[in-house]
Amino acid sequence: MKPIILDVDTGIDDALAMSYALNSPELELLGFTTCFGNVSVAEATRNTLAVLEKAGKRIPVYAGADQTFTRRKKKGWAKHVHGEDGLGNTLKNDPITQAESQFAPEFMIEQVKNRPHEITIIAVGPLTNLALAIKRAPEIIPLVKEVVIMGGAVKVPGNVNAYAEANMIADPEAAEYVFSSGLKVTLVGLDVTMQTLLPKAKLNEWRAAGKETADFFADMTEFYIEYYESFYPGIGGCALHDPLAVGVAIDSSFVTTETMNVKVVTEGEEAGRTVGNQEGEPRIRVCTEVEAERFLDHFLSKVV
Ligand code: RIB
Ligand code: CA
Repeated sequence: MKPIILDVDTGIDDALAMSYALNSPELELLGFTTCFGNVSVAEATRNTLAVLEKAGKRIPVYAGADQTFTRRKKKGWAKHVHGEDGLGNTLKNDPITQAESQFAPEFMIEQVKNRPHEITIIAVGPLTNLALAIKRAPEIIPLVKEVVIMGGAVKVPGNVNAYAEANMIADPEAAEYVFSSGLKVTLVGLDVTMQTLLPKAKLNEWRAAGKETADFFADMTEFYIEYYESFYPGIGGCALHDPLAVGVAIDSSFVTTETMNVKVVTEGEEAGRTVGNQEGEPRIRVCTEVEAERFLDHFLSKVV
């Protein structure tokens, strides 16, 4: 089993990634860490706890950053994409369970020091928690086995504007700090995630299962698909951004990578842009192709 920490800003595709990871025996889930991004960190923490309760699982959750790496308060959330509650407006009651008291970056540091060269960190939100962790304890950088990041758009347009993908623009300074740190990074960007579309018809199959958990995920994902159909007319489904990052951690053969140096633009109109083939040591493994159908089959075999 591969020990992992899943860093989330739970929104809908984060929730799908959580379920995929929880149902994959290849992964040993040490904990979830939460960050602002799609919603506030308090809402992301609440949503992560709620998804775990729906899934009937008890995995520790650690709340993280409520502001960016340079202490800017994020303005505005992605409620048009993920709903007012961040889970497609499906949340009826707050979760009963509570998050742990330890700050998420401190949890990351402690786990990596306890299990050097073993832990994969999968980050599917802004990179603030990871940036804070390696700033506080740079000695852990060579001890992290791998970081799999959902984020960026190297050879394709962004999804927030022509340049920037959402996780990168939410905290570009954190992303640049992580990319230039020497961590072993695999970047699962829009270059590949926009090819992994979940067809709307699958939701009826989930509902036909007659399981409350499956209904919850179907209702939540329906909201997400409706957003995709409004923003990308005719797309026929929603992009499985965060689940693909988990998929790559389970089986890296789902993707083809090209190692290059990637810079993150931190200022101006192009802030959040991930620019590949930069001068300097090529150290970021950028996913350039994906076996979308084989990944989708694996995801669907596990998610609900
Ligand atoms: O651009 C997609 C990414 O931004 C996903 O991680 C989604 O959950 C949002 O965080
Ligand atoms: Ca996310």
